[in-house]
Amino acid sequence: MTFPTALPPSRVPSPMEAPALRWGILGTGWIARQFIASVQAHTRQIIAAVGSRSAGTARDFAAQHGIPRAHGSYEDLVADPGVDVVYVTTPHNLHHEHALLALNAGKPVLVEKPIALTRAQAAEMVALARSKGVFFAEALWTYFLPKFDVIEQVLESGVLGEVRSVWTEYGEYLPPSHRLFDPKLAGGPLLDLGTYPVSLITKLMGVPGRVAGLGQPDPSGVNGQLAVVMSNAAGNIGTMATSPYGFSPTQAAIIGTEATLRFGSEFNLPGPFELRSRGNDVVLRY
Ligand SMILES: NC(=O)c1ccc[n+]([C@@H]2O[C@H](COP(=O)([O-])OP(=O)(O)OC[C@H]3O[C@@H](n4cnc5c(N)ncnc54)[C@H](OP(=O)(O)O)[C@@H]3O)[C@@H](O)[C@H]2O)c1
Repeated sequence: MTFPTALPPSRVPSPMEAPALRWGILGTGWIARQFIASVQAHTRQIIAAVGSRSAGTARDFAAQHGIPRAHGSYEDLVADPGVDVVYVTTPHNLHHEHALLALNAGKPVLVEKPIALTRAQAAEMVALARSKGVFFAEALWTYFLPKFDVIEQVLESGVLGEVRSVWTEYGEYLPPSHRLFDPKLAGGPLLDLGTYPVSLITKLMGVPGRVAGLGQPDPSGVNGQLAVVMSNAAGNIGTMATSPYGFSPTQAAIIGTEATLRFGSEFNLPGPFELRSRGNDVVLRY
């Protein structure tokens, strides 16, 4: 196939075009605050209610963010008839319990990543959502970015050829007090920062048949950092690393038989990438 002369445009619609829903925020931590700030700045969505384990926390959080209703329990939040969709923002080990709580109340759910701790938990959540006939998704937002829609089109066009290898990593400094270092909250980087590199590899190469890795324990009792190599049925190889000990480039490269795709900044965030022909003689930049 001839190498393209330009990248396709993104087909991702403006978030402003999405019909306004009334969101209920379950949990009041870091990501809940980031989500609300983004939603209020860039969409027409309505943050209608918040639920916390504590009535006082819920009231303070609602006052800070201009949220009309504050609930002192997650049960009250999911029962709120003025909530169309629930956003689960609790630590990893509670996603299953809290997504089921909202789904059983008949509410569509956006649950933070990782969707669950085990495949069985995830399957139960998906089955319940299907039986209730409601929307259910993991908030792995990277793949909804306009740049990933362009990458999706590049992959579908076949210009990369067969994906022979994916190389990717994500490191960030998190202080010892962070929940990632708490074994009771399913700590360790793999289910946290690691969801980005793992998902990039599995998205491009499928579920691996073989996995080999090395981890270094952290004194807190969680896995500290790790590096993993995986291969799929065709023998193609994905390589990843993740660490909470410092900011890494958070890079990725997708190497195909016909072309290579390289990111120009953190691969999981908005930003540039380039598509290079096999001979490196044509470079298309996003
Ligand atoms: N998509 C992304 O880019 C992104 C980024 C960061 C985090 N996340 C995900 O979001 C989830 C939350 O992360 P976070 O950094 O926002 O955590 P966080 O700041 O610790 O907040 C978690 C919230 O969950 C509630 N909670 C309920 N039971 C809890 C318990 N036993 N211990 C601690 N908190 C409990 C708390 O709210 P109340 O006390 O009000 O009930 C708390 O504020 C994680 O699963 C993480 O992977 C996603």
